[in-house]
Amino acid sequence: MSSTPDAKPSTSAYWMPFTANRQFKKAPRLLTQADGMYFRDEQGRQVLDGIAGLWCVNAGHNRPRIVQAIQQQAAELDFAPPFQMSHPKAFELAERLVQLTPAGLNKVFFTNSGSESVDTALKMALAYHRARGEGHRTRLIGRERGYHGVNFGGISVGGMVANRKMFGTMLSGVDHLRHTHDPARNAFSVGQPQHGAELADDLERLVALHDASTIAAVIVEPVAGSTGVLLPPQGYLQRLREICDRHGILLIFDEVITGFGRTGQPFAAQTFGVTPDLMTVAKGMSNGCVPMGAVFAHQRIHDTFMTGPEHLIEFFHGYTYSGHPLACAAALGTLDTYAEDGLLTRASTLQSAFAEAVHSLRDEPHVIDIRNIGLVAGIELAPRAQEPGKRAFDVFLDCWEQGVLVRTTGDTVALSPPLIIEPEHIDRLVNTLRQALRRVA
Ligand SMILES: Cc1ncc(COP(=O)(O)O)c(C=O)c1O
Repeated sequence: MSSTPDAKPSTSAYWMPFTANRQFKKAPRLLTQADGMYFRDEQGRQVLDGIAGLWCVNAGHNRPRIVQAIQQQAAELDFAPPFQMSHPKAFELAERLVQLTPAGLNKVFFTNSGSESVDTALKMALAYHRARGEGHRTRLIGRERGYHGVNFGGISVGGMVANRKMFGTMLSGVDHLRHTHDPARNAFSVGQPQHGAELADDLERLVALHDASTIAAVIVEPVAGSTGVLLPPQGYLQRLREICDRHGILLIFDEVITGFGRTGQPFAAQTFGVTPDLMTVAKGMSNGCVPMGAVFAHQRIHDTFMTGPEHLIEFFHGYTYSGHPLACAAALGTLDTYAEDGLLTRASTLQSAFAEAVHSLRDEPHVIDIRNIGLVAGIELAPRAQEPGKRAFDVFLDCWEQGVLVRTTGDTVALSPPLIIEPEHIDRLVNTLRQALRRVA
C-alpha cells in the first residue's frame, strides 16, 4: 500500500550518492521547495543557496520561463526517439548554443549529465584520430585532482583518489599531468595565481615518455571545481594549448562547472582566452531543472566523421535520452532567462565585490588559503589531525543550521551561488561562514 501523503517516508531504502548515508539518516536534511536564491526545508526554514544547488542552478530557482517551458513540453511531446529521428527543439537548442561558444566549436552532441559528456568527448577524440588514419593515438591524459564525473572514462582521466581507488584498474593507457595547486607560492591569490604556468610542460614530459603519436587527447577543467576550486596559473592554459598543437593532441576542456557564466563569460574558454577542440558541459545548461549535458566539437572534428556512404551511421554513440524534449525545452527556457537577465556575464561585474567578501575571511580561524574567480570561491581550512575533511564538514553543518547551504570537498568550503545573487546575499553567505569558522573547533 502506498503511504498517506503526510506520512514521513522511511529513509532506509534510498542509497544516497556521494553522501555519508549513516550520518545523513540520523538527521536528514530535506529540501522541499525552492525559489530565487532560497530553498525551503521540511521545517519551512528558508535556506540561502550558496552553491546553486550543485553548481548548476545558475539562473536561480523556479524561473518562470523554464517552468512553463517544461510544463508545456510535457503536454506537447513527451518523447521522441533520438536515433534516426528527432524533434525541432533539439535543432533549435543546438543552434542557440553555438551562438555562445568560442568560434569553431559549432557542433553539439547531447548527453544527460557531465559524466556522460566526458565519456562522449573521450570517445570522440579516440574515434576522430582513428577516422583520420591515426588509430595509434589511443592514450588519454588527465590531471591529478581532476574531476570528470564518475563513469569509467571520467574516473580514469580523473585524479581524485577516493573516486578511483575502489574501482580497479579502470581504462588502460591513461596518464596524468601534475595538478597546479601550489599554496607555498600562490596562497590567497585573488583570481588567477601568478606561479605555475611551467606545470603545463608536464605534457612535454609525457610526450617524451610515450611519444606524441600515441596520445589522443588531454582533458582538464579550466578551473578545477570539485577538488576544491583550483585556478589555472596565469599562462598555464595557453601553454597547454601550444603543446597540444605542436603534437597533434586534442585539448578537451571540461566546463561542466565553469560553463554558463560561472567565471564571468559564457565559458571559461572565453574568460581565459584559450579555445579547446572539444568542450564538455552539463549543469547550468538546463539550470539543473532537467538532466542534460552536451559536448561541443570543433567543426573540423565533426567533419572528419562525415565521410563514407551517406546511409551509414558516422559515430556509433548516443543515449536514449540524448536531446530529450523536456531537457531541450528546459535548456531553451534557461538560455532565454540567461539572456533576459544578462546572467552569462553577470559574474564579471560582481566578481570584485565577491572576491573582497570572500578574502575578508583570510584571518578567520583555520583558513589557510582562499581562491576565487567570477562567482566561485574555495576557502581551504587546515585539516584536523587524524580527521581529514571533518572540520570543513562541521562548518557545512553549522552553516546549514544557520540557514545557509555551502559545499565541502576535503577541507575546502566551496561557494558557487546562483548568478542572480545580490550584494546582501553575498554578505549573509560570507558572514554566516565567518561565524561558523569562529564556532567550529
Ligand atoms: C568538471 C566536472 N565534470 C563532470 C562532472 C560530472 O557531472 P555529472 O554529475 O552531471 O555526471 C562534474 C560534476 O560536478 C564536474 O564538476
